[in-house]
Amino acid sequence: MTRPITEALKAPARPLVRWWRAKAYASRYCRRLQEHRRAIRRRIAATDPIDPGVSVDALWQRVDNALPADIGRSERWLGRPPLSTAFAKYWTRYGHVYDGIGREKALEHALTFELLDFRRIHRYCDVAAATSPIRYPLADDWGDVEAWRQDLLFETDLSKQIVGGFAQSMDAIEPGFFDALTLHCSLEHFQGTADVELISEIDRVLSNQGACLILPLYLATTHRVYFDPTKVSSRAVQGYDEEGDLFAVYGYHQDHGRFHSPETLVSRFLHDVPSTLDATLLRFHDDGSLDPDIYLRFAVLHRSDSVFRDRND
Ligand SMILES: C[S@@+](CC[C@H](N)C(=O)[O-])C[C@H]1O[C@@H](n2cnc3c(N)ncnc32)[C@H](O)[C@@H]1O
Repeated sequence: MTRPITEALKAPARPLVRWWRAKAYASRYCRRLQEHRRAIRRRIAATDPIDPGVSVDALWQRVDNALPADIGRSERWLGRPPLSTAFAKYWTRYGHVYDGIGREKALEHALTFELLDFRRIHRYCDVAAATSPIRYPLADDWGDVEAWRQDLLFETDLSKQIVGGFAQSMDAIEPGFFDALTLHCSLEHFQGTADVELISEIDRVLSNQGACLILPLYLATTHRVYFDPTKVSSRAVQGYDEEGDLFAVYGYHQDHGRFHSPETLVSRFLHDVPSTLDATLLRFHDDGSLDPDIYLRFAVLHRSDSVFRDRND
């Protein structure tokens, strides 16, 4: 009984608390941005919101020109069946799981279930999972699949199917252990060369029918690192990708978000994919048909005959 009373007393103060927090954030943001600009010898542009600076069509054209022939390309339509119907069904069943998170995350997860053949998956790991809710639909629909979670924030506990530490060195995991890996909104947070190093670790831990989905895979007109000045030290910002432009983003609340240019995607990230892995880049059309904020396309690293459904049907 005490709880509803306390909640009722707190309710009128909430708008005030929100207003005060927003004001405090705004002044912290300006102060930290100035401090970073004074402290480091690199230009920091300020932007709000994140804008890739070029149309998706133009980016895809550049991707197509830059990609070597042995990297596959595939195009999918979010506004047409089977993906439109799969997402509608997923949202009806699991929309409640994404309360306060939003439809973009639900779409990422619905696509994971469409693009990976879970009937052939014995062990799955969501890499850099943080608090991702994908485990709930997974447990409901694919209760026989071993569901692992990995994140820098976790302590390894194999009995609970949790892998902690850097994803690029999952030393506790045997070679060939997982049939499927996913990175949802994660790869862009891997700092320095961690994302490039992850490719050989993916090759090591995937089974011989394994596949790894990375979605979204963020691209922009230039190679760039977005960050929230309140979340990071000047020293860290100074060390962000030398080849990248630096952008402070108001309200981003993340310390690092890398967007490759089509050219650096190839020269930096995909330049040394082991011969035991194939890579496919997907482009999604009709992204606005589901939600104007959805911006996704992704890379898939997979064995030649894998659990990745490499077709449009
Ligand atoms: C935005 S969160 C991802 C959220 C989650 N995948 C989801 O979709 O809800 C990014 C995560 O990447 C993790 N991370 C960053 N670098 C990492 C690394 N090298 N290895 C493992 N996790 C890393 C962070 O700890 C953070 O939890």
